[in-house]
Amino acid sequence: MLEDLIANNRRWAERKIAADPGFFKRLEGQQSPDYLWIGCSDSRVPANEIVGLDPGELFVHRNVANLAPPQDANYLSVLQFAVDVLQVKHILVVGHYGCGGVAAAVDGRRRGLVDHWLHPIREVSHDHKAELDGLCDDAARLDRLCELNVIRQVRNVASDVFVTDAWARGQSIKVHGWVYSIANGLVTDLGVTVSGCE
Ligand code: CO
Repeated sequence: MLEDLIANNRRWAERKIAADPGFFKRLEGQQSPDYLWIGCSDSRVPANEIVGLDPGELFVHRNVANLAPPQDANYLSVLQFAVDVLQVKHILVVGHYGCGGVAAAVDGRRRGLVDHWLHPIREVSHDHKAELDGLCDDAARLDRLCELNVIRQVRNVASDVFVTDAWARGQSIKVHGWVYSIANGLVTDLGVTVSGCE
């Protein structure tokens, strides 16, 4: 099986060079992506592929349930590098419907460490209990919670000092909330874009 992956890789690199002989040489110099993607680790949500971007065009951070927790050193390191060094223009927080991480946060079962990781989603669920309880079925509740989680993470990113300091310096950064549908491959913009201190 692994041989297949290496063979795929060889064919992919050949195709890239055939279409654009300078492709890898250019990337070797430096990366200058305009976008930071913060998405779920789910294998069905491949960041670059969904939005048609090549290597070098999308800086990517993925974790279980696309969280942006203000105490997570991994996420914060990515965010600071993207904002201060790469100076990305857009930060895309991208959730997806039917997210297993979001579902696991609220199904009441115990799994161990991940229960702590998913704690912020239980807070979101608690804060929006009335709205969620008013929905007709579990699938609708889960999908709405996936959206509410994205909206909360957009707020986390937009209120982070790395981002607010960049705005204070006059840097242009927009933080967007999107949700992706595994069922039809389409992204929906949740309309919660933040482009400066509020
Ligand atoms: Co997910």
